[in-house]
Amino acid sequence: NLGVINIPVNVIVVYSNSNENISDAQIASQITVLNDDFRKANNDVNQAPAEFSGVAADSEITFTLANTFRNASSTTSWGTNNAVKSAYPPVNPETHLNIWVCNIGGGILGYAQFPGGNLSTDGVVCSPQYFGTTGYVSAPFDKGRTMTHEVGHYLNLRHIWGDGRCKRDDFVSDTPSSDGPNYGCPSYPTVNCRSNDMTMNYMDYVDDACMYMFSEGQKERMRAIFAPGGARESMLP
Ligand code: ARG
Ligand code: ZN
Ligand code: CA
Repeated sequence: NLGVINIPVNVIVVYSNSNENISDAQIASQITVLNDDFRKANNDVNQAPAEFSGVAADSEITFTLANTFRNASSTTSWGTNNAVKSAYPPVNPETHLNIWVCNIGGGILGYAQFPGGNLSTDGVVCSPQYFGTTGYVSAPFDKGRTMTHEVGHYLNLRHIWGDGRCKRDDFVSDTPSSDGPNYGCPSYPTVNCRSNDMTMNYMDYVDDACMYMFSEGQKERMRAIFAPGGARESMLP
């Protein structure tokens, strides 16, 4: 048992205008959401229907802001091809989660790299409008859940529909099979692949206010990468 795992975080802000140069308060609000969501301390988890509330998990992972870096740039949209990471390399990615906050463009909220990839591109990218809960944020993605979702990927979680039809797996047994993402704020039950979708899972595509849990199986999958031989073992002190 690894106990509570703390992950130090570097936030790399890259801005082309003053809105994108988000405040320290906005950054702090995002760290708070990550800590609440990964420790099941979010005040909306009680909305989980009885079918799923029993597997809503405290992942026992916490986040501490280590450093904030601010960079002015003339680039107004960075896309999803890791360009921002070449321009502003991650700092100590073997021990720190690096988060780039920059305008991605194209309606993309954020993107992440799975464990086991190149250290020079390791981390998560998020557009400033979807980062944190205060300041330059935009509904319905203004509750910091884009980062909860992307850090889920960074810690090895797949989308709950397995990015494919019913038989495609997310390698987690307590997330019911589905055949595609849900959007907006679906009502319960939403049936796909002959079972009720866990639409309120952070690894679906619903609005921020309508996702509020990881499952026990997801917790196990995330924590496995910190065990001896795991892809993020080096992050432990
Ligand atoms: N990578 C996904 C996207 O950009 C993130 C979805 C996050 N969902 C959310 N409700 N914040 O579309
Ligand atoms: Zn995703
Ligand atoms: Ca599953």
